[in-house]
Amino acid sequence: MTPGNLARRSPSPAASDARAAKRRKLEYPPLTPDDYRNGVMLAPMVRSGALPTRLFALKHGAKLVWGPEIVDKAILHATRVEDPVTGVVSYMGVSKAIWTTHPIEKPFLIYQIGSADPALAVQAAQKVMHDVAGVDLNCGCPKPFSTHAGMGAALLTNPDLLISILTALRAALPPHIAVSAKIRLLPTQEDTLRLVERIVGAGVSCLTVHCRTRSMRPRDRARVERLEEIVRFVRSLGRDVAVIENGDCEGYEDAKRIRKLTGADSCMIATAAEANPTVFSPRPLVDLETTFIPQYVRLGKYLDNHFSSTKFCASQFRGEHAQGTRTTQTAMKNAITHAKRYEDLDALVGPWTGAHEFAQIVQAIEARAGDRQPKVDDDAPTDPAPAPSTAVEAAAAADALAKAAEQENSPAASDGESATLSTASSQPAELKTPVQSHSPDPALLRAPLVPANESRLPVPAMVAGEDVPTPTPTQQMAEAA
Ligand SMILES: Cc1cc2nc3c(=O)[nH]c(=O)nc-3n(C[C@H](O)[C@H](O)[C@H](O)COP(=O)(O)O)c2cc1C
Repeated sequence: MTPGNLARRSPSPAASDARAAKRRKLEYPPLTPDDYRNGVMLAPMVRSGALPTRLFALKHGAKLVWGPEIVDKAILHATRVEDPVTGVVSYMGVSKAIWTTHPIEKPFLIYQIGSADPALAVQAAQKVMHDVAGVDLNCGCPKPFSTHAGMGAALLTNPDLLISILTALRAALPPHIAVSAKIRLLPTQEDTLRLVERIVGAGVSCLTVHCRTRSMRPRDRARVERLEEIVRFVRSLGRDVAVIENGDCEGYEDAKRIRKLTGADSCMIATAAEANPTVFSPRPLVDLETTFIPQYVRLGKYLDNHFSSTKFCASQFRGEHAQGTRTTQTAMKNAITHAKRYEDLDALVGPWTGAHEFAQIVQAIEARAGDRQPKVDDDAPTDPAPAPSTAVEAAAAADALAKAAEQENSPAASDGESATLSTASSQPAELKTPVQSHSPDPALLRAPLVPANESRLPVPAMVAGEDVPTPTPTQQMAEAA
């Protein structure tokens, strides 16, 4: 954190809330296997699993979040630094942060280790254990940078080493730090079950199975149907170990279907969450250009997330469209592509800092009240997240985007293609939340959120419209005039 970075922050109505939230410690008991059950989890994702993405995933209903794989030696060389303003904890490498986290996510955060060495894995885990709830061993990454050093998917064919790492982690870490593993399927079911038995015996709390083999590409359909036998097998071993399905899960509704099909305790989502970090919600946000991306950029700025990371993640977002126009989509895409720093996006996302977004995330997480809800096994699902934006904000963002598109004289604009886009979906209708359904984020409605039924969580004041709204570009211009 440089003084320049600190000075960059301007006061915001919610800044004091955010600072107060930073000091608040969330009291949670240690993770148990049950905490890995009945949920939809954010998968570990290098680059895409950045801190703002994890925080938004939690806000929108992810039960637990995995951080990106960090190789043991990398974290061992890093220096831990705390930002006194935001509370962000950065593990600094030579020139930039290798990994960042925030205390608010700690009860839900699984730190993923890349390792091929039990002693180094233990040292790496011990270095971060005060900032996380659990550690996970990556046994599935098929990329050469991982496998050439014996890490990731290479461990699948070196089970003795894999087990020795897990055993060392379990023995060395205090009991309140959960240990888990994420594997891929082996080519044969027999070999997979043999490996699973050994992993379960190593004392893990949870096993995630990415239902692809090492040689399968991301576009190959996940072999989810192989999981049911694995789940039954784990249960037959009589150990309390949760099994998480991973591969091709599209969101909250899809997780229900996959869990029914496989018997898995939970589902974990990567690609769909990379495109839309709100897919953990029963009603994910649509029209991300106006409802989500501005907030994301602001939160990134507030957290001092490296701009290249925020830009990369924002450029991956592609939600469904209900109201958005091709013009606004193109304008946002162009603006992100050309931006070199946060200030370049001020016209589209507003000049303020993102403290408001952060305070809302804190409130959503605190609304879990010591439980690691939300759950997906309820017939009447809870609404996990309070609203991030007001109608005024969304309208202002749409306005700014439309203006930007006009100025850019984009091909879409000149085509006159400003009609509402239809929703393109390759999924069977029953697996997707209809885009027109009510969203827990009433970005397009200023009305307070009224609980649909009695079983929903109490609606925080902020969602009910009682908080001071974030200033919008329109308001600020009016005030300045
Ligand atoms: C951008 C990206 C980065 C990933 N990084 C990791 C990682 O750091 N560790 C890991 O175990 N898997 C990683 N994966 C794999 C995912 O966690 C997940 O296993 C895989 O994408 C299958 O899930 P999906 O079908 O929902 O995408 C990554 C996937 C993506 C798309």
